[in-house]
Amino acid sequence: MEPRKILVTSALPYANGPLHLGHLLEHIQTDIWVRFQRLRGNTCYLICADDAHGTPIMLRAQQEGITPEQLIEDMWTRHKQDFDGFNISFDNYYTTHSDENRHYALYIYKAVRDAGHIDRRVIKQAYDAEAKMFLPDRFIKGECPKCGTADQYGDNCESCGATYSPVDLKNAVSALSGSTPVEKESEHYFFKLGDFEEFLLGFLKSGAVQKEIVNKQMEWFESDKGLADWDVSRDAPYWGFKIPGTEDKYFYVWLDAPIGYLASFRNFCDREGVDFDEFLKADSTTEMYHFIGKDIAYFHTLFWPALLQGAGFRLPTGVHCHGFLSVNGAKMSKSRGTFIQAESYLRHLNPEWLRYYFAGKLGDGVSDIDLNLEDFIQRVNSDLVGKVVNIASRCAGFVNKRFDNILSEQLPDADLYQEIAGAADSIADLYEKRLYSQAMREIMALADKANQYVDEQKPWVLIKDEARQAEVQGICTQGINMFRAIVTYLKPVVPQLAADAEAFLNAGELQWDSVQTPLLGSEITKFKALMTRVEQKMIDAMIEDNNAALPAPVEEKAAVAGPLADDPLSAEITFDDFAKVDLRVVKIVKAEHVEGAAKLLQLTLDLGGETRNVFAGIKSAYDPADLEGKMTVMVANLAPRKMRFGVSEGMVLAAGPGGADLFVLNPDDGALPGMRVK
Ligand code: 2FM
Ligand code: ZN
Repeated sequence: MEPRKILVTSALPYANGPLHLGHLLEHIQTDIWVRFQRLRGNTCYLICADDAHGTPIMLRAQQEGITPEQLIEDMWTRHKQDFDGFNISFDNYYTTHSDENRHYALYIYKAVRDAGHIDRRVIKQAYDAEAKMFLPDRFIKGECPKCGTADQYGDNCESCGATYSPVDLKNAVSALSGSTPVEKESEHYFFKLGDFEEFLLGFLKSGAVQKEIVNKQMEWFESDKGLADWDVSRDAPYWGFKIPGTEDKYFYVWLDAPIGYLASFRNFCDREGVDFDEFLKADSTTEMYHFIGKDIAYFHTLFWPALLQGAGFRLPTGVHCHGFLSVNGAKMSKSRGTFIQAESYLRHLNPEWLRYYFAGKLGDGVSDIDLNLEDFIQRVNSDLVGKVVNIASRCAGFVNKRFDNILSEQLPDADLYQEIAGAADSIADLYEKRLYSQAMREIMALADKANQYVDEQKPWVLIKDEARQAEVQGICTQGINMFRAIVTYLKPVVPQLAADAEAFLNAGELQWDSVQTPLLGSEITKFKALMTRVEQKMIDAMIEDNNAALPAPVEEKAAVAGPLADDPLSAEITFDDFAKVDLRVVKIVKAEHVEGAAKLLQLTLDLGGETRNVFAGIKSAYDPADLEGKMTVMVANLAPRKMRFGVSEGMVLAAGPGGADLFVLNPDDGALPGMRVK
């Protein structure tokens, strides 16, 4: 059969925050599928990017005092590092803030506009007259119109679950300025989705979309009004691409986000000399799949196919939705400490453990998936370490030490080997259909058989009998070959383990078909431990580190910074508020690492006689030894705050990228500890 040509994407993560394990559920699911396709000899490109536009990114950059370009660049680096850490094998990881994306966004927009699918009309929206901008729903807060709970977002109530429009909120305020929003008119651009109704019905029924999702989307068609127009414009100030022919209108981030798939692929094709049009032309014989979370199915199964169709591109072969991730049975939550960041995981645990755990849970449906940390330890230790690696570690030593690293010329139990090699097709079928949990069960059942064989043959007993040496060599060769087959089946899931096994087996890269030809009479290398066990204390350290790295829980923060503190934006303060802040020059007399904290340094500060203990989240930027003896500025009248590691009695101010750029003051400049900063 001709190798298939496949383009695969995962949803583009927003560039306004770090990745968490929920993102990884999707990217691991996608990466396993892509690696499986490549292992089978197909051409399969994995394409992704940061989703770099929109109001939250613009406002976060403002808040941090940097440009949006700087923010998205920093975030891109962090995201890329995390994905590399989890061994996600992107062919291209790009950004939607790119020339290619501007090009395709304009191209697609103009195509649908020129075909008459864009309408313009004036609408009324909430406007913050102080901040001088229209307010997205999540930047309006007020009392729930149904149950009266205070401090609810403009679109739904976290307390009673009601959904509503921001104009229904009682005592609404803008989360940006605290002022009361007013209604203001402006002209918006709408994509007439209804023009594609028949086409979309056909697409949804084509088999490209899971049944559960089709059923959900059918509700949109069944409403009295049919498919509603989609507002694709936003007024300035906005961070995105300007709509051609306007001075102050931008494409809504969700218009150019999926177009980012094409742009990232284009960038890859130009670099690598791959034929973009072969993949994207309307009658392409290649395949294109999008892996996404069920929350964004709406965009990917209605708007996106309509835009592609409207602009004359091919349609997705499949839109593969998955469910949400919970941790220990609960929704991921910052205050419960279950909002695990990718960075925290990688500092303490092996990425392959999570890849395997997720594979053991994933199917082709949209039900949610729970990461139960006890079960995680149990499954990884019992399956990967106790079953898979164990087969090799029980056999390798004898071949290394007694047989000069050479495998026997024949397998003593060819039938058993055939049973394992014969499972290749059914396991491949499960991977192809994204039924990974079933695939893992089948593979582990084979590992059980292999272990049972070694148990029964007892090479460690036979080795003592001089007359039975050749027999031991055969048994170990059988064991090592069964291990090799099992690792091949697991290679899409645990690529590092497979690479280490390839080094040990010393016979090149494992391909799906390698299993059909056992390794006989060849030389292996010295066996090294292929995987260690997960221990509870590693999980504890990861959780502790993660929680220290997270912003304080909402309640705690709210008490410090006011009612809007759980918003990504900080509330504006008045001059009088600012005047209350007591800034002092302080000398850092001692700076030490904090056991178990990833980001904190413990500082002892001299305020000119008085000593304060402060925990500062600046570990990544400064070596404690360099800080001792330096001076900096602190907020001296911040209420003491109880932290996991002790009480923090104030806050130090540091700026710049760290190291030499700490804004410190020289005693020579006349600064003395305790001086007030004006
Ligand atoms: O929901 C999200 O996180 C979006 N940033 C996903 C975009 S996927 C694609 F359409 F770009
Ligand atoms: Zn409510």
